[in-house]
Amino acid sequence: MALSVGATVVSTSTHADVALSLATWMETTNLILEHRRFPDREAYIRIPEDIQPHLAGQDVILVTNTYPDEQIVQSILLLQSLEQIKRAESQGIGTLTIAIPYYGYARQDKQFLPGESISSATLAMHFSMHCDRMAILDVHAKEPFGELGIEVLHPSLIPEISEFFNSGIEIDAVLAPDAGSVERASAAAELLKVPFTHLTKRRIDAHTVIHEPKELDVEGARVLIIDDMISTGGTIIRATQSLRDQGAIEVHAACTHGLFTAGATERLLHSLDSIVASNSLPNPVARIDAGKAIARCLLEAGPPTRER
Ligand code: R5P
Repeated sequence: MALSVGATVVSTSTHADVALSLATWMETTNLILEHRRFPDREAYIRIPEDIQPHLAGQDVILVTNTYPDEQIVQSILLLQSLEQIKRAESQGIGTLTIAIPYYGYARQDKQFLPGESISSATLAMHFSMHCDRMAILDVHAKEPFGELGIEVLHPSLIPEISEFFNSGIEIDAVLAPDAGSVERASAAAELLKVPFTHLTKRRIDAHTVIHEPKELDVEGARVLIIDDMISTGGTIIRATQSLRDQGAIEVHAACTHGLFTAGATERLLHSLDSIVASNSLPNPVARIDAGKAIARCLLEAGPPTRER
């Protein structure tokens, strides 16, 4: 393994806020890489010559998202250029980690119908060909990352979400809106020291199904709903309605990834008492630091255990 003397964070200006926070928590610097778009929107990237000496012997951490689509191509180009420097005879870099605050395409984590691409695994395979390690914040499903042949870290924002609510908003219970959120939401409930529940379906008659919190009376309670991502807001709005029907007096929501597609923020603010997300993506309610969660995970893990 190459001799590593420290870690350096690199990113384009698009991801500079998370990258800067990550670098600050890791007590290192964030160096900005060159990027622009040609008139036809194709990506141009470059590792500027003046920063190359600063990468020598360093464990380099590239911060970049795979959303929207154009960031996928840009991320692959950046990784490949860094890898080229890593392989150089002189001034090579140590190890190469890609840190992804928001991993797009994570929801296609299996073949639901024959002939589909397992998009999450397909992207991961391309990235894994150019780096020693991936660190992906609160990815929707971890399964597609199991057999890539490189180390994959899964930082979690749950401690930061819990800290946010512990120091501001009183919560009596945490709810997972669906089965996929149970692990994250129950971990938050534990940190907040409140009961946890998730929504279940109860059939009333042939035409009516009620969604209600499983085995928890939320009458008079202040409930926090936790999900990995919010897109249209439909999942959270349905859960909020169900909690209000059951007598909850306040409903708050927190997610890691605030996609908030057309009009979602307004609909959610109309329905909820408050909503908060991380800055893994730019969004109007980004109050929680994704960089801190990624830094905690990388510091705990130390340098990559082996190189490709
Ligand atoms: C789904 O399994 C995810 O965890 C989210 O619950 C879902 O993607 C949220 O989407 P929307 O806001 O459109 O309901």
